[in-house]
Amino acid sequence: MGAGAAGMMAAMEAGKRGRRVLVLDHSPRIGRKILISGGGRCNFTNVGARAENYLSANPHFAKSALARYTPKDFIALVEKHGIAYHEKTLGQLFCDGSAQQIVTMLEREAAEANVTVQANTGVHEIVHSDGFTVRTTRGDFRAPALVIACGGLSIPKIGATGFGYDVARQFGLRVRDLRPALVPLVFNPENTKQWCDLSGLSTEVIAYAGKRSFREKLLITHRGISGPAVLQISSYWQPGTALRFDLSPGAKVLDALLASPYDRDSTALRQMMYAALPQRFADRWMRLFPQTKWTNAALEASENALHQWGITPAGTEGYEKAEVTAGGVDTDDLDAKTLQARNVPGLFFIGEVVDVTGWLGGYNFQWAWASGAAAGRAL
Ligand code: FDA
Repeated sequence: MGAGAAGMMAAMEAGKRGRRVLVLDHSPRIGRKILISGGGRCNFTNVGARAENYLSANPHFAKSALARYTPKDFIALVEKHGIAYHEKTLGQLFCDGSAQQIVTMLEREAAEANVTVQANTGVHEIVHSDGFTVRTTRGDFRAPALVIACGGLSIPKIGATGFGYDVARQFGLRVRDLRPALVPLVFNPENTKQWCDLSGLSTEVIAYAGKRSFREKLLITHRGISGPAVLQISSYWQPGTALRFDLSPGAKVLDALLASPYDRDSTALRQMMYAALPQRFADRWMRLFPQTKWTNAALEASENALHQWGITPAGTEGYEKAEVTAGGVDTDDLDAKTLQARNVPGLFFIGEVVDVTGWLGGYNFQWAWASGAAAGRAL
């Protein structure tokens, strides 16, 4: 169930082993998230993907599947289909052309493996007795094994549903708390008034949530903050807690002022702030936090403030804007090697529906490919 990244991979692998495979999807088109991913170019993997790049109640769970279907395996498939790609930053691989090439590749591989893919098929119910019966808008289908690859809740307008979680609950599997992740954050009214007219402005920061940190760009939006640093840290953010941002990573802003007892005035300060930060951000900072004292202690406090900007977001932009859903089918209830439900032989859960959530940068697709391959080889 689900002709997305994970479902198509599982189907291909099972088909190659001679299994008779039918993939059902309620959407009119398959792989819709692949098509909109990576700004239309699909960041299809990350060369450095390891279990450390994923959030899960069991941080070891993803290791087995990730080790047995690696970024190199997927790159080999991409190259076999002559799809040109490039590394952008931090090991992220994108198509040179379009994400459609990845969907076409999956369709071709599935067809070669004699897999039948049937879109436009809504599922009403799953019945389990001597195999699985899937009752759909296009009739009933029976099979000895059923793979749930329905993805998460993000972007409901392109067909995301909570169906996979409902199936898990129906069969007695636990579902870890769901929340939007890799998601822009929303400011409270006061912070909105202070910052959001600077929407569109971006600057490099280190974003911190507890011990976790990411050094990337922060972007001010008309409702709060986004950009890769914020998306990454959003997955670790607990509502009600503060995030911290180092606005000048690795560089002191006010060193020259501190070094000299002379020229300690707002002109010198502005010069230093402009050298370290985008000018409009620096102007806003100096207006909100004016320098009133020029002692060493006061300047050191200002320096610290620039490396410890504390913001308590009011919330997130929700599933409408989230790239993924964190939480999901409890990995304690699944076998790490096959993704089969421990207590329901023949029932598998793969991809985003499982409580394994990747960082930004191709990690989520790598989990979809790897978990899909694991199930496809076990079916
Ligand atoms: P996926 O969502 O791909 O597929 C689930 C399928 O199940 C869909 O085809 C859906 O129609 C179907 N389905 C759902 N409910 C159903 C029901 N009730 N009945 C029948 N079918 C049903 N990741 C990454 O690594 N690199 C990137 O560049 C991006 N970019 C990106 C951009 C945007 C805007 C989003 C929203 C997400 C990303 N991601 C990403 C995340 C990535 O898209 C996501 O993690 C994978 O698509 C998950 O693959 P799955 O196969 O698990 O679900």
